[in-house]
Amino acid sequence: MTLDNAAEGINPAQGIRTMQEYYGTTLQSSADLRTSACNAAEPPTPLVARALARVHDQVKERFYGCGSPFPPALDGITALDLGCGSGRDCYVLSQLVGPGGRVIGVDLTDEQIAVARAHVDWHAKEYGYANVDFKSGQIECLAEIGVEDNSVDLVISNCVLNLSVDKPQAIREIFRVLKPGGELYLSDIFSDRRLPPELSKDPVLRGECLAGAWYWEDFRRTVASVGCMDCRAASRTPVKIQDPDIEEKIGFATFTSCTLRAFKLPLEDQCEDFGQVAVYSGGLAGHPHSFALDDHHTFPRGKAVPVCGNTADMLSATRYAPYFSVIGEKTTHYGRFPCAQVEQDPPAPATGCC
Ligand SMILES: C[S@@+](CC[C@H](N)C(=O)[O-])C[C@H]1O[C@@H](n2cnc3c(N)ncnc32)[C@H](O)[C@@H]1O
Repeated sequence: MTLDNAAEGINPAQGIRTMQEYYGTTLQSSADLRTSACNAAEPPTPLVARALARVHDQVKERFYGCGSPFPPALDGITALDLGCGSGRDCYVLSQLVGPGGRVIGVDLTDEQIAVARAHVDWHAKEYGYANVDFKSGQIECLAEIGVEDNSVDLVISNCVLNLSVDKPQAIREIFRVLKPGGELYLSDIFSDRRLPPELSKDPVLRGECLAGAWYWEDFRRTVASVGCMDCRAASRTPVKIQDPDIEEKIGFATFTSCTLRAFKLPLEDQCEDFGQVAVYSGGLAGHPHSFALDDHHTFPRGKAVPVCGNTADMLSATRYAPYFSVIGEKTTHYGRFPCAQVEQDPPAPATGCC
């Protein structure tokens, strides 16, 4: 298929070759990175740390992610990792979805996929089952590698979408393959402004996930264009540019690694009040006392928390439903929901709703 990269300032074929060279040859391990962008990961939860301890060292050495994109409630689901690289996150997911689940990893750099595939048997022996499948391909063309419509419960991606030569197409593909109620849980690099497209021609700026960083508002507009009107920030980590050459070229902008969640649900573009409340019943592994849906919605176990219509749907029409009681219907509208949107610097990437 033809990719449209007018906004990215690069020829798609050239952009893909640059990626393959950067991640296949220039970088041999995380130690070769020149900024903290692809290495600004928030600390893993204890559950994820335990799973990471059972991932092969050679896989972990070639990790270039900027976050820890592992939501809870994964047992038995089908998960897709876009730009899986050497497979570190896929092998973590493999343990979290368990033998009844399935993990698909996609990447376009042969050297990275080769490392991932070379360790399939080792992990199968370690875990006692095999449930990971690595595909060589582009995240913008998932149909070409056989990922069907409405077939995936969870899409994760760790520091990859910023590199896409056609971001709108990548987002369209995500929402095509997600099942209704499915979740996108994405860690990526965001900038506080649109960056000059010519910076994308610099292989280091692009490869280090800076030149293609999402401008917050453009991310929100892109996901809104496929019908996702409300996405939520779960965590943010500032990116430090320590390399003086890189700082000189791109240091005028501020970069943040952010983990976001969004659902394939028909949500509204603003928070509306239907008088609903949600109660977390407990039971999500790793969340014995409370569950944070995002950076300003925390649900202490057993406590009734007033929610807008969108939050009610996120908790009742998704795989989180067994862990929540959502009380109230959307039959009576009480006006705009008084959402206490926290002030963020930089601002939250998605401000359409709560
Ligand atoms: C910053 S690395 C992150 C890799 C992996 N997620 C990790 O955490 O180690 C970016 C990865 O995305 C892959 N990539 C970039 N653009 C891609 C695309 N359009 N389709 C598939 N993979 C892509 C690269 O080959 C590289 O392995």
